[in-house]
Amino acid sequence: MEHINKHQAFKDEKSIHTDFKEKMTYSDYLGLDTLLSSQHPLSDHHDEMLFITIHHVSEIWMKLILHEINSAISDIQSDNLSTSFKKLARVSQIQEQLKNVWNVLATLTPSEYIEFRDKLGNASGFQSYQNRLIEFALGYKTEYVLKIYEKNPELHQMLKEAHKAPSLYDVSIQALARAGLPIDEEVLNRDVSIAHKPNESVKKAWMTVYKNVDQYWELYELAEELVDIEDLFQQWRFRHMKTVERIIGFKIGTGGSGGVSYLKKVLDQYFFPELWELRTEL
Ligand code: HEM
Repeated sequence: MEHINKHQAFKDEKSIHTDFKEKMTYSDYLGLDTLLSSQHPLSDHHDEMLFITIHHVSEIWMKLILHEINSAISDIQSDNLSTSFKKLARVSQIQEQLKNVWNVLATLTPSEYIEFRDKLGNASGFQSYQNRLIEFALGYKTEYVLKIYEKNPELHQMLKEAHKAPSLYDVSIQALARAGLPIDEEVLNRDVSIAHKPNESVKKAWMTVYKNVDQYWELYELAEELVDIEDLFQQWRFRHMKTVERIIGFKIGTGGSGGVSYLKKVLDQYFFPELWELRTEL
């Protein structure tokens, strides 16, 4: 057996591609030069690399979430619900990964973080524009945050457009209406740059879906995909809040908020309120 393995290893060594003068390598394809040269600690402290890496990993996952959600929005708009499910399920799996980064970050102790925290100045995850794009795509439209991005006109424009675009929940409600479920006109024609407010006709429509699962199977599946995403988003927020408490206690944030008190407050925010309300009434 060992003889066969050695023989195979020898064959592999001979056949593996090693001449890349004219060909694209793994690193070229993935742009690894840029990716792996983007970590620039501002202190000499060993643990700053962890801090930067956690943020980079999170931002890369967020990029994929946006790619999937925006595509799912188009699918739902064109009544391709089943195509959207694969993408929304992928979003949930990415959120699981995002949630797990807190376990790695929790290895950073308060004594370690304090060594380089002042180097961050006013930089804070609060300014993560991808996080805002995800919130906008899910329907949480906070206009005041747009000001942060004014110093970069291209980025500012992109955020303004995302802020005005219909969210995943808006297009899901439109899909309810197209399936013949009565939705108030004021909801269907609403200004989508404002966060959705709980509405009785929307709740009734989702209730009909949950009470007639066989008849509305696709809408039912859509609803549960949305609930998965919101549930995981809240779990991410909770783990963020608790990890922050573990590392900085109740100090104010580098972004200027009250810190943990602010992070606790955002836990009260809902993306898809009727989908949660109906559970009490069903
Ligand atoms: C030691 C690590 C961390 C600490 C102490 C921390 C602390 C905070 C605090 C206090 C805030 C509130 C805004 C402020 O005043 O700054 C905040 C917001 C935020 N942080 Fe972190 N954070 C940490 C790691 C991370 C990581 C790894 C991410 C991943 C991208 C992240 C993403 C965010 C986001 C998206 C917000 C905005 C939340 C919202 O407005 O709902 N943070 N963070």
